[in-house]
Amino acid sequence: MTTERLGFSFRTLGDVSERAFSNPGAPLHGDAVALPTVADITDLLRAVIDPELGGNIVDLGMAGHVAISPEGFVTVGVKLTIRGCPLRAQIKKDVESRLATHPGVTKVTIDWGEMTPAERTEVMTKARWAASQNAPDTEIPASTRVIAIASGKGGVGKSSVTVNLAASIAASGYTVGVLDADIWGFSIPRMLGVTDRLEAERVPGVDRPLIIPNERKIGNGLLKIVSTGMLVDDEGTALMWRGLMLTKAVEQFLRDVRWGHMDYLLIDMPPGTGDVQMGLARMLPRTDLIIVTTPAVSAQKVAIRAADMARRSFLRVAGVIENMSSFTCDHGESYPLFGTGGGQALAGEIGVELLGQIPIEAAVAYGGDHGEPVALLGEGPAADAFRAIANLIVTDTVPPVQMADCSARVEPESVGVSVRRRIA
Ligand SMILES: Nc1ncnc2c1ncn2[C@@H]1O[C@H](COP(=O)(O)OP(=O)(O)OP(=O)(O)O)[C@@H](O)[C@H]1O
Ligand SMILES: [Mg+2]
Repeated sequence: MTTERLGFSFRTLGDVSERAFSNPGAPLHGDAVALPTVADITDLLRAVIDPELGGNIVDLGMAGHVAISPEGFVTVGVKLTIRGCPLRAQIKKDVESRLATHPGVTKVTIDWGEMTPAERTEVMTKARWAASQNAPDTEIPASTRVIAIASGKGGVGKSSVTVNLAASIAASGYTVGVLDADIWGFSIPRMLGVTDRLEAERVPGVDRPLIIPNERKIGNGLLKIVSTGMLVDDEGTALMWRGLMLTKAVEQFLRDVRWGHMDYLLIDMPPGTGDVQMGLARMLPRTDLIIVTTPAVSAQKVAIRAADMARRSFLRVAGVIENMSSFTCDHGESYPLFGTGGGQALAGEIGVELLGQIPIEAAVAYGGDHGEPVALLGEGPAADAFRAIANLIVTDTVPPVQMADCSARVEPESVGVSVRRRIA
């Protein structure tokens, strides 16, 4: 029997496929049909796509050893990302039917295996790369770090976190885009105190007008802000958009806004998981996700769904922020109004860092209502917490792309000429 390994060590589950598949189309041996080679089998396996990972099982490193007996019995190792992978049945069917197209194959047996965490990380990286190759053009420069602020449920403070982080990062001298992806529940214009209607302009070489983001200068930095709240007359009008053009609107904000240079783009996601996140994963597969949760265990459970969705759409979760952690009264006593430990538990469960905890403070809500993020105003533990997290993001978690020696720096994005190119 020929046995060959295709580049990775195979940890078998001792779980050879339930029932070997006999090829009904194979001629009886003795009829001088050539046996397949390992290369033939590998080529056939390239047609088996893992629909979730969006790549073929050979390139993704899921196909393992191939063994071919003189009778045409073929055994193939297939590694699943997790043991209970719901796609197992489909992959089995596809492997069998693909291999059955070779007349020399009389029987197919799958030797199932499970990836180690390191292999799983590697396969995700490959899948993300493959997704980026198919990603459509956007107006987001390739050098911009994209961070989406998400949560499993509403009202946990995503928008407050978005504006405070954006303002803090901008205060350090960076140019930060803020995209309000909460199409009908927008709150960014009010929270940043920028409510002017958006205007569009014609740009040479582009067949449609591009929206010019509203801007707000912060210290040496700059915010570039786009929200449906700047397109519609009132929240009632926005409601009519519901469902109808949800993903389309976000897509449009990525394609039809003249963003220009940005070090960061922060995206305030709508509550929950769903279409917008999937659309974002398709358009900007390099997006990092930061998940906001409250300390309550129930919130943390829901937030796991957001992480799970991220995993399935190959977005990297860069960290967790716990908001509304505790309330400290005027006498200095702390009360964990919404429980404790949810942020740390969530971070532990998904294997990422807890970037920080933001206490409940009236100044956060006040700042949000008055267009002045508390992180800019200064004092207090919440402002300090926001600034510390922003600093951690810039220095460690998602540092800006350094372009000093890179030719992309000289591309003409800052002179009003739209740069349309594929993003990485
Ligand atoms: N740390 C905090 N202390 C006090 N109030 C807060 C804090 N964080 C958020 N809030 C307030 O809680 C409310 C909800 O916050 P926010 O709008 O940021 O949440 P969200 O997750 O974006 O909500 P939605 O899901 O509706 O978009 C707001 O009124 C906000 O001012
Ligand atoms: Mg919000």
